[in-house]
Amino acid sequence: MDTAGKVITCKAAVAWKPNTPLVIEEIEVAPPQANEVRVKIVATAVCHSDLYLLYEAMHKDGFPVVLGHEAAGIVESVGFGVTEFKPGDKVIPLFLSQCRNCDFCKSPKTNHCIESWREVSQESLTSPDSRLSCKGKKILQMAGTSTFSEYTVVKEVNLAKIHPDAPLDKVCLIGCGICTGYGSAVNIAKVEEGSTCAVFGLGAVGLAAVMGCKAAGAKRIIAVDTNPEKFEKAKIFGATDFVNPKDHSKPIHEVLLEMTNGGVDFSLECVGNSSVMESALHSTVPAWGVSVIVGFTRIQKFTARPTDLTSGRTWKGALFGGFKSKDGAMEMVKRYMDKKLMVDEFITHNMDLGQIMEAVELMKASKCVRVVLKTSAQ
Ligand code: APR
Ligand code: ZN
Repeated sequence: MDTAGKVITCKAAVAWKPNTPLVIEEIEVAPPQANEVRVKIVATAVCHSDLYLLYEAMHKDGFPVVLGHEAAGIVESVGFGVTEFKPGDKVIPLFLSQCRNCDFCKSPKTNHCIESWREVSQESLTSPDSRLSCKGKKILQMAGTSTFSEYTVVKEVNLAKIHPDAPLDKVCLIGCGICTGYGSAVNIAKVEEGSTCAVFGLGAVGLAAVMGCKAAGAKRIIAVDTNPEKFEKAKIFGATDFVNPKDHSKPIHEVLLEMTNGGVDFSLECVGNSSVMESALHSTVPAWGVSVIVGFTRIQKFTARPTDLTSGRTWKGALFGGFKSKDGAMEMVKRYMDKKLMVDEFITHNMDLGQIMEAVELMKASKCVRVVLKTSAQ
């Protein structure tokens, strides 16, 4: 049946209110407007940022919403003026846009794009514009994506076209976690050959950071997690040392300073917890240590002494690992297709969209790395 130009009724997981379970509902997805693309989502994974919006940020203007931003799918139809995509193209939705025309996009110094800044509220991570509705109510879209749905509409600038042979149930992870972690090590920390690194938090983001440190030639990669079950995976991605903060009575940065005779060269915080961000900073060698905030939180605050930085340390952060979003997603998919990037190893569970709350609970309990949900038959 040709669905172009018509409203599509399909299933989606709706977050009606903060801190309540997602509900599988029939939603209506309007046709794409100018410069928009309607995508049939084939596979989506749950990322910690989805949980952050539902359980931690709980912003009053952020609901009802369809969450989900780590996915892959197939173009169903395109709106007026779309030139880069056609029905049938395999694609990855992107929570950061890349319009290629704005000052940010033209600058090599940033991966931000004015389009994302204009559209998406930095507080609620939703935009006032949405093509989704349910029971007569407008449903917000998360950062221009909303992939916990069989169909969604995204702007042309928020979509990457990928290799036609790419397996969507795997490369969906490139839409957030893998680029975020890997890029944070390679593009933002700029990990150097022979260096010592510490990665805090071994979810998909942290494991991808470990993989990035290894690719950049780090000699020693210390993997830190409060759940020791994550260490086995970390080893596969290249970690050499394993530390569980629960095994130590002293602060974890002191343990790392002792292990490394003065501090690591690079640390990456991949939890989204401000006190872990402080520990990660304090674990670096004062003279030249670089600490990268990878985890996402707008709510929590941290404290540091000016001398933590005047000593010579650098404290920085980025979204999407500093990759220009379209370019990064396309490049990383190609690297996977060329067998130069691990992706399958992140997937611990495969489920259907209807089981999304099982996936959310597994992630809350740190009992998975990535759960990939099949949304539609490919
Ligand atoms: N110290 C070390 N590790 C911890 C701590 C802690 N205090 N608290 C939790 N962890 C571990 C968990 O056991 C888990 O293995 O951090 C890991 C977090 O992994 P996930 O929940 O799977 O999160 P992920 O999707 O990888 O995202 C991590 O990056 O992009 C951001 O928003 C995202 O802030 C989130 C972070
Ligand atoms: Zn731009």
